[in-house]
Amino acid sequence: MTPETPALDTTTLSVQPLFRPLRWGSRDLHNRVVMAPMTRSHSPGKVPGPDVAAYYRRRAEGGTALIITEGVNPDHPAATGHPSVPGLYGDEGLAGWKHVVDEVHAAGAAIIPQLWHCGSVRTLGMEPDPTVPGFAPSAIPHPAHSDTGETPHEMTPGDIDETIASFVRAAVSARELGFDGIELHGAHGYLVDQFFWEVTNQRSDRYGGSLEKRLTFAVDLIGAVRAAVGPEFPIVFRFSQWKRAAYDYKLVKTPSELERFLTPLVEAGVDVLHASTRRFNDPEFDGSDLNLAGWAKKITGLPAITVGSVGLDLDYVQSRSGGDAHKVGIDALIRRLERDEFDLVAVGRALLSDPAWAAKLEDGREEEIVAFERKHLTIFE
Ligand SMILES: Cc1cc2nc3c(=O)[nH]c(=O)nc-3n(C[C@H](O)[C@H](O)[C@H](O)COP(=O)(O)O)c2cc1C
Repeated sequence: MTPETPALDTTTLSVQPLFRPLRWGSRDLHNRVVMAPMTRSHSPGKVPGPDVAAYYRRRAEGGTALIITEGVNPDHPAATGHPSVPGLYGDEGLAGWKHVVDEVHAAGAAIIPQLWHCGSVRTLGMEPDPTVPGFAPSAIPHPAHSDTGETPHEMTPGDIDETIASFVRAAVSARELGFDGIELHGAHGYLVDQFFWEVTNQRSDRYGGSLEKRLTFAVDLIGAVRAAVGPEFPIVFRFSQWKRAAYDYKLVKTPSELERFLTPLVEAGVDVLHASTRRFNDPEFDGSDLNLAGWAKKITGLPAITVGSVGLDLDYVQSRSGGDAHKVGIDALIRRLERDEFDLVAVGRALLSDPAWAAKLEDGREEEIVAFERKHLTIFE
């Protein structure tokens, strides 16, 4: 816990700024609360069952306006890095997602899938085909696998084209199923981020080298998806400084480096930037109070989503290493929203422990919010 986030505080300011509507593609979001993407690993055979639809519907009924699903794999054979993660392909998988979309819409919320390729976080033995290794920009073990040192397959230009085509198929399927957009997972040290990161990308072709060249894979990916889904279908891009196994890493160290990073992505066709941080209240660069989402919005003019420890004292990594979090008030968030630093607020763990987090907050029933505990990282009800 840091001194800036006192435990057991309650909110004293009006929460109204969090409950203003926002235009989203061809529909309105009824407030600014977004469910952050959270892997559940509860979709055996890569098919989301009725329990998945009920899980997301509960959050929609509980007042969340936009749901970003758990990471969902496109059909590329090396996309999966964790067991029982759903796919966005195949008759059964697509039918499962159609049911999820219909249930969430019936409860009045919008929903987008997070499209996720794990790159070298995948290891041999993983489903669906255990003989397929991790794929990566370079044949360098992911720092998260320093114990096994398993070397991934270095992607050829043909592999890159096939991977992009796989994302395009998933994005087109998402649009056909009635999803309200897609999020591309470009964060946390997975495939897209492995291209950004000089530790995992040591290529000497057009995909590696300077920051601009390390952006090439993402730019090509976004451009291909945009061309396939048309101009109206919202594309969210999630990015982060931190990476799995490198939590303090800074991909960009100054606002001007952030501008060099974001501008090509925006020009390629991104509509909304989702800046993944562990604490929304941390200023990103010296000399300004703006957080990463605030800088993303200021630099690009695009709507931005913030995330990280909303309503909780411990951050995501502290929770992973075993702590139960305490509820805290959201005054600091409200102050940032009041000055339009960002547009939307993603909530992760607080929505695992209490599907009605948003409704309780809006109704002044903050005391009734169920506090997040370690057990909520595995039950996903
Ligand atoms: C159980 C769990 C699973 C997660 N899975 C994903 C994921 O699939 N994709 C992703 O981008 N982030 C994932 N995250 C990170 C969250 O989206 C979010 O950024 C993080 O939990 C911080 O928000 P919070 O402090 O409100 O929990 C996960 C977090 C948790 C707790």
